[in-house]
Amino acid sequence: MFITFEGIDGCGKSTQARRLVEFLLREKGNGKALWTREPGGWTGSGNLRELILSQEFEHPWTEVFLFLADRCEHAKKIIEPALQEGVIVICERFDDSSRAYQVWGRGIELEKIERALALAEYPRPDRTILLDVSVETAMGRVLARANLDRYEKEGKSFLERVIEGYRFLAAREKSRIRPVNGEGKPDEVFARILDSLEGCF
Ligand code: TMP
Repeated sequence: MFITFEGIDGCGKSTQARRLVEFLLREKGNGKALWTREPGGWTGSGNLRELILSQEFEHPWTEVFLFLADRCEHAKKIIEPALQEGVIVICERFDDSSRAYQVWGRGIELEKIERALALAEYPRPDRTILLDVSVETAMGRVLARANLDRYEKEGKSFLERVIEGYRFLAAREKSRIRPVNGEGKPDEVFARILDSLEGCF
């Protein structure tokens, strides 16, 4: 089972993804679930994450290819081996981030991004939790952070476009992408996530 968490910056996906992994490790046993994230989920990828999140790029496709290169290596080194051993993989951000951020955020055509994503072979998520929060909630959380990356500095209208993109993708692929209300206390949000994953484990 390959589960991804998606949403705009500040939606609470790190907190919830880690909670889900802890829950699964308790329920299924040690080693039966794995937490990972993009960009930079594989050993040796620290420089790439830093590069992607800090550099300003002139060409709109530069970041697409960097995210895709990161994903290919992440899939081969971390995700595929774990899935082959029957481990449940929980990943913060995956290819829907490339759709929502690079299409709705940056303005590249969806069809072109889909073609680029289709070039690379990697496991497709079985289920995606879209943590849906208002832009106000997300901005409040992001602005409380110490060092903002270049995406977190983009501001309200960028995040509004990205969440609109995520909602479009969820409506397009209802069986895989499940929107979960991310507002409220972490315990309440986690209960909603477990509800939405009923029957998966
Ligand atoms: P985060 O992992 O701290 O959420 O930061 C990653 C940032 O990178 C986030 O703002 C979303 C962005 N991103 C893309 O724009 N496209 C992608 O394909 C991925 C994986 C992330």
